[in-house]
Amino acid sequence: MLIAQISDSHFRSRDTRLFGALNTCRALERAVEAVMSLDPRPDAVIHTGDLVNDGEDGDHRDLSEILGRLSMPIFAVPGNHDRREPLRKALAWTGSIAAEGPLSVAANLGSIRLVGLDSLVEGKAGGRLGEEQLGWLDGVLSANPQTPTLVFVHHPPFAIGIDFMDRIMLEDHAGFEAVIGRHPQVELVACGHAHRIVHTRFAGTIAMIAPGIAHQVAFDLRPGAPSRWVPEPPSFVLHRWTPQGGFVSHVVYIEDYGADAPLSDYVARIGQ
Ligand SMILES: [Fe+2]
Ligand SMILES: [Fe+2]
Repeated sequence: MLIAQISDSHFRSRDTRLFGALNTCRALERAVEAVMSLDPRPDAVIHTGDLVNDGEDGDHRDLSEILGRLSMPIFAVPGNHDRREPLRKALAWTGSIAAEGPLSVAANLGSIRLVGLDSLVEGKAGGRLGEEQLGWLDGVLSANPQTPTLVFVHHPPFAIGIDFMDRIMLEDHAGFEAVIGRHPQVELVACGHAHRIVHTRFAGTIAMIAPGIAHQVAFDLRPGAPSRWVPEPPSFVLHRWTPQGGFVSHVVYIEDYGADAPLSDYVARIGQ
């Protein structure tokens, strides 16, 4: 089972540039092409939020058209740059977007389960799940205690040491941690928002943050460091699940950095 996680597309239609510099329309197109060119092809795609940057006229239409080039099931949760209703409308065709209320989702995918959570607080950069959704999560996980589960949410429930991001992380992370800790079938918590590749131990499981598919947040651990972006290579994460090995997650670069070449000289030298 292969699940591609793309995150933080901050999509703007073709004729506009994010920060006056970034073509995030092309970035999403390239990410979609990269996912579709994988062999074997992923069984599903999850988008962990900030699908659009501003959600201006035409952005959702074009976002939807480009995501429609993916041939596999798509699941998405909103980020702080998204707005619920336009996103709900734009992605209704996926069949995985809730018809009302929070844009949370629970679905079976082969022998595993995907649970997406809506941490958007409209008008705010930080995230919150709220008691109702935490209760829903507890119920959903209680109903399938034996099924290996991937939980995905935009805002990370843990601090990463980059000050300005930590100020806008998941506010009710303690409540989330308590729920996840009660359900050992949760094998992975997959997040976005921080535009960097980060992993940690969380509530007895693994939590990770996916990179951005357009731009990254500058790596700066100095207390009070300013918020900055950096044009580091865009990538996405490919989560491979097997019954024997659980989830193993690979970072896959989107752009082409040159052809691969055989390792045969080395293999011959070490006698394999
Ligand atoms: Fe983002
Ligand atoms: Fe975000």
